[in-house]
Amino acid sequence: MTHPAKKFINPRARHQFKSRTCSIASVGSYLPERVLTNDELKKMVDTSDEWITSRTGIKERRIAAKHEHTSDLAAKAALVAMARAKVTPEEIDLIIVATITPDMPFPSTACVVQRKIGARHAAAFDIEAACSGFLFALEIGQHFIMAHTAETVLVIGADKLSTIVNWRDRNTCVLFGDGAGAAILRNRPNAHGLLTTCMGSDGTKGDLLCMPGGGSQCPPTAHSLAAGMHYLRMDGKETFKSAVTAMYTAAREVLRRCEADIAQIKCVIPHQANRRIIDAVAERLGATPEQVFTNLEKYGNTSAASVAIALDEAVQEGRINKGDLILLIAFGAGLTWAAAVIEW
Ligand code: ACO
Repeated sequence: MTHPAKKFINPRARHQFKSRTCSIASVGSYLPERVLTNDELKKMVDTSDEWITSRTGIKERRIAAKHEHTSDLAAKAALVAMARAKVTPEEIDLIIVATITPDMPFPSTACVVQRKIGARHAAAFDIEAACSGFLFALEIGQHFIMAHTAETVLVIGADKLSTIVNWRDRNTCVLFGDGAGAAILRNRPNAHGLLTTCMGSDGTKGDLLCMPGGGSQCPPTAHSLAAGMHYLRMDGKETFKSAVTAMYTAAREVLRRCEADIAQIKCVIPHQANRRIIDAVAERLGATPEQVFTNLEKYGNTSAASVAIALDEAVQEGRINKGDLILLIAFGAGLTWAAAVIEW
């Protein structure tokens, strides 16, 4: 059927009604300087390097300075990605920041980033899908490129989880870290780029991983602060099981949609939550250890930043080259999950 607006517009502008592909033009990341090791954590809670390493694979994580907010981490990652793609701030049409630790409830962290990088022509907004956030943002940003609504999209996953972690709770504080990763999305003529993406949610399992305080349900009060409502809470065992199933199912779905076999994937980049979750998903997918990229030993779980940072490091280390097929998989609070197959 002819698009109803077609007859009103200049024929030269009609190309806008044809979908086009979206590629990742560049990636960048930023990790705060301060390293917090498992041995240091031993002095804060009743734990050990042996317990943390054997149960999670994490050896250390980065902690942002007090003056370094989520928007600062995000802006630094963005500037790296922009420099690599030779994108000026004025060229950016849209900024999407995925985060569960915004600088403040409003304005959005994306608007703060817009100011910090000087992207004055961009529209900017945040999305919240916890550790799946970067992949959700990637999928959203992709549609703006495909629909010709934007030429250059900046997608960022950034979190300063150290501000919502209870540093007296050994069940959670050993798992998380701070960081940011960014990607520039553009149409690259004659390239496939993002081949297929999928995302999903299960709100019935929201209690497995949540921060009950700080929103309209439980605004900050002396009581809510004393009860620790403003800290992240997690049912580790159930989260673990849901993560393996959701990541495996999402990965199978995107592979099926683009008719690719796991053997054709050069690099699998999973959310960096726990080495055992990654191993279980890789085994079920039939991926070899050589195919799977991990860096969680250095950074722990950086939530929305996790996949973006890992993607950046995989590219910088030469693990991904032009034309390679890569598989991104994420899982997070919500529950949420997402996957993508990309021709680099
Ligand atoms: N040091 C020492 N002991 C600990 C620690 C610690 N840091 N943390 C917990 N324990 C103890 C518990 O108190 C418990 O003791 P108990 O049996 O006496 O009660 C025991 O260890 C539990 O041990 P396991 O059952 O072996 O723990 P498990 O194998 O389930 O591992 C873990 C725990 C690492 C949290 C695991 O469940 C996990 O990784 N879950 C998924 C977490 C995750 O990925 N979350 C992020 C999701 S993504 C997002 O959106 C943020």
